Amino acid sequence: MSRIFITGSSQGIGAECARQLIALGHDVVLHARDDARAAAALEANPRAAAVVKGDLASIEQTTALAAAANEQGPFDVVIHNAGLGGKAPERETTADGIERIFHVNVVAPYLLTALIPVAERMIYLTSGLEADGRWNPYDVQGSTREWDGMQAYSDSKMHVSMLAIEVATRHPEAAVNVVDPGWIRTNMGGSEAWDPVELGAETQVWLADSDEPAATATGRYLKRREELEPNPAVRDADARAALVYELIKLTGVPVP
Ligand SMILES: NC(=O)c1ccc[n+]([C@@H]2O[C@H](COP(=O)([O-])OP(=O)(O)OC[C@H]3O[C@@H](n4cnc5c(N)ncnc54)[C@H](OP(=O)(O)O)[C@@H]3O)[C@@H](O)[C@H]2O)c1
Repeated sequence: MSRIFITGSSQGIGAECARQLIALGHDVVLHARDDARAAAALEANPRAAAVVKGDLASIEQTTALAAAANEQGPFDVVIHNAGLGGKAPERETTADGIERIFHVNVVAPYLLTALIPVAERMIYLTSGLEADGRWNPYDVQGSTREWDGMQAYSDSKMHVSMLAIEVATRHPEAAVNVVDPGWIRTNMGGSEAWDPVELGAETQVWLADSDEPAATATGRYLKRREELEPNPAVRDADARAALVYELIKLTGVPVP
């Protein structure tokens, strides 16, 4: 039995991962943004070990969330699942002065990675749209170009994939992978999406639960358990170092 922390587990793929992992006998700590969403998370998974709270669009709340999660740890597995889609019609900036999609999808998993002890297995959620991400070391938040929400989302999923592979490189003792769940019927994916939520969770559940050598390998970009080649920026060590440098500047927190 493993102790597993899943961000963004109030609904969608995160809640479904929790459901499948609890059914397999694991202890799962949920995460939700506030009291109301925490109640929804526990309603979806009443046998969860605990739920911790925090808005990932806030550096202060994410720092407190990491502390609350650590009180429930240590974790054998951390799944960085929470994410914000690209539907915003205009650029939004959080109270920390960071573009909102970059903040939730990149800065928050970076902070949680830095503030929660490295787990034996770590899984980051990306999207097939990471292939459309455009690496720009001088403007990671896309502040100098016209707003395009889907481009911001694609960029953020490329960035979080870069973060995952950087963590894998720095921690060869851990199994660190990044997963594209496919187009899944959730709040984010919408009702037209191709696949049900069970399928969107299955690769993360396999990576968290299985002792097969293929499940415990590291440094891979996976979809439906198959290794794919990510955006070239993900394999570019200089680009990853530049992203980490930006994240340290924005958060004041060094990489572990
Ligand atoms: N669905 C797809 O087709 C698809 C495709 C490719 C990749 N993905 C990725 O898969 C992951 C899960 O997506 P999903 O489809 O399950 O999305 P979802 O149904 O919208 O769920 C997203 C989860 O993240 C949480 N979250 C978002 N912003 C947050 C914030 N500021 N603070 C705290 N929690 C926050 C949400 O909390 P609330 O319940 O409070 O909103 C929810 O629990 C995401 O990383 C997404 O990018 C999804």
